[in-house]
Amino acid sequence: MCGIVGYVGSQQAAPLLLEGLARLEHRGYDSAGVGVVGPSGLRVAKRAGRVRDLSEGLPKRFAGKLGIGHTRWATHGPANDVNAHPHTEAGGLAGSVAVVHNGIVDNAAALRQRLTDAGVELVSDTDTEVFAHLIARSTADTLEGKVVEAVGSVEGTYGLAVVHADFPDRIVVARNGSPLIVGVGEKEMFVASDLAAIVRHTTTVAHLEDGELATVTAGGFTTFRQDLSRSATTATKVDVDPSAYEHGLEDGESRMYAEMLEQPAAVERALRGRLDDRFGTAHLGGLNLDARELRAIRRVKMLGCGSAYYVGQMGAALVEELARIPADAEAASEFRYRDPVIEPDTLYVAVSQSGETIDTLLAVEEIRRKGGRVIGLVNVVGSAIARACDGGIYLHAGPEIAVASTKALTNMYVAFALLALQLGRVRDLSIADGKRLVNALQELPAKLEQVLKLEDEIAEIAADLAQCDSMFFVGRVRGYPVAREGAQKLKEISYRHAEAYQTSELKHGPLALISPEVPTVAIVPDDELTERNVAALHEIAARGGPLVVVTHDGVDLGALDVRRIDVPRLERELDPILLTIPLQLLAFHAAESLGLDIDKPRNLAKSVTVE
Ligand code: F6R
Repeated sequence: MCGIVGYVGSQQAAPLLLEGLARLEHRGYDSAGVGVVGPSGLRVAKRAGRVRDLSEGLPKRFAGKLGIGHTRWATHGPANDVNAHPHTEAGGLAGSVAVVHNGIVDNAAALRQRLTDAGVELVSDTDTEVFAHLIARSTADTLEGKVVEAVGSVEGTYGLAVVHADFPDRIVVARNGSPLIVGVGEKEMFVASDLAAIVRHTTTVAHLEDGELATVTAGGFTTFRQDLSRSATTATKVDVDPSAYEHGLEDGESRMYAEMLEQPAAVERALRGRLDDRFGTAHLGGLNLDARELRAIRRVKMLGCGSAYYVGQMGAALVEELARIPADAEAASEFRYRDPVIEPDTLYVAVSQSGETIDTLLAVEEIRRKGGRVIGLVNVVGSAIARACDGGIYLHAGPEIAVASTKALTNMYVAFALLALQLGRVRDLSIADGKRLVNALQELPAKLEQVLKLEDEIAEIAADLAQCDSMFFVGRVRGYPVAREGAQKLKEISYRHAEAYQTSELKHGPLALISPEVPTVAIVPDDELTERNVAALHEIAARGGPLVVVTHDGVDLGALDVRRIDVPRLERELDPILLTIPLQLLAFHAAESLGLDIDKPRNLAKSVTVE
């Protein structure tokens, strides 16, 4: 949520900053800005709109070999030119100090009041502006001292990058609850909130810890704490393929589309080296739990937000089915606020693509504080959640850039299947059932390919659904989280109202809304509930409700007039993920038929790093 990039070295900073911002735009895209320190001091350019608008409007002579940039997702104040970052102590585009900030200053109102009482004129509605004034007013001799003093007055979260015309060789950065990395180049250095911004230039990075700051100059970086004592954070090479970040960027292809199509390959990556044919089990070395510890687990609780929460529900069902351990999922955003009882024999599982979602991170911290054991299902290697957990399963989905999660979600499902298999096999799951699952997982990529081939027929249905203002997604038991995820995707990118319901609950209220204008997308797998699901379809049809049914080939829907999408069969435990893929395509094509910006849906951003 919001993106930061910074550069210091021998090249002109502005083009590198703009390139970095373009690569961070999925994190916030309501406004953008850059601040560069050059021969004529500090220069700032910022505006509401996209990075492209900023680039086009950038003054010709914007010289300087050191600078910072920001792409914003508004928290305090609307998206306009004034609220865009960087913020300076002189307001607008002038000044000596420029600051870009991710996070939220909790005591912003009090600090703004204090500054106003001292005669400072604040020009924006943002919390960030206080940093610029606090730094400018500090009497410390060094930029490091000034920044330490400023962050000392601030309560809240920040990933912060600061430049100062009087210290033209350095960027000072600080982190508390909002990610910040320093990238090491050849006689040049980068800072960023996300590796995506700098991956083309370096993959050697240092992750700052909470409470840590760093001085970054062309020759290197040093880290320190808030008492100005040196800390020992070093840079390491991250094992990523920079070309993975290029997908869809050059030719204007939708990232979400590319990421959907990549799912078979992503699943293969997630499975690689983790399946054991011989013993019908999975090997998940990163769990840091031996067989005895796995056997001692009495309950499993999944925690995630949004789609990660819904796939957590799918994962809980898998664990119950395969391992016969009670399991459930909860929205991580609510968890710590109900002062949860943390049980020593419960395995907590934090699920997150970005590994940065603050609600999920805070849930992990709550569990750890109370002595619980938590593992992470995380995509981004080395991210805050991955580091905060006792162990985990990396998703290996590759960089996911589109705001709507697809391939990471599918790999979360796969990771849950592996976890459930391993938990099951140290308990009562038979070797035969274990092998059945191993075979099914091996077949999954090919089955996903088959579902993706249904695109054309799904696109036609999607275009019709997109004409409706409101619709239901319904499913039962293992189909219900699928319905939730389907409704979520559609809402997110097509801005159509979609409500997920348990099919069994329809007649307890929502049936009143069914009409020819309100279609229902029903998840009807071939399982022990098919008959009951079909009965519900009849109830909807009897009220004139149009139906789209996502089902299996051969399922008899009676004489109903429905549009059906048949997904291939595999083992029933893997049905939910195969049933989810058509709903991704449905949401994508609905949004596309409406001509919407699919990769950057309004009001959203990729990683939610503020509460
Ligand atoms: C939906 C979506 C969000 C995320 C949620 C959690 O398409 O992308 O609901 O799933 O914000 O994000 P992560 O997985 O990064 O913790």
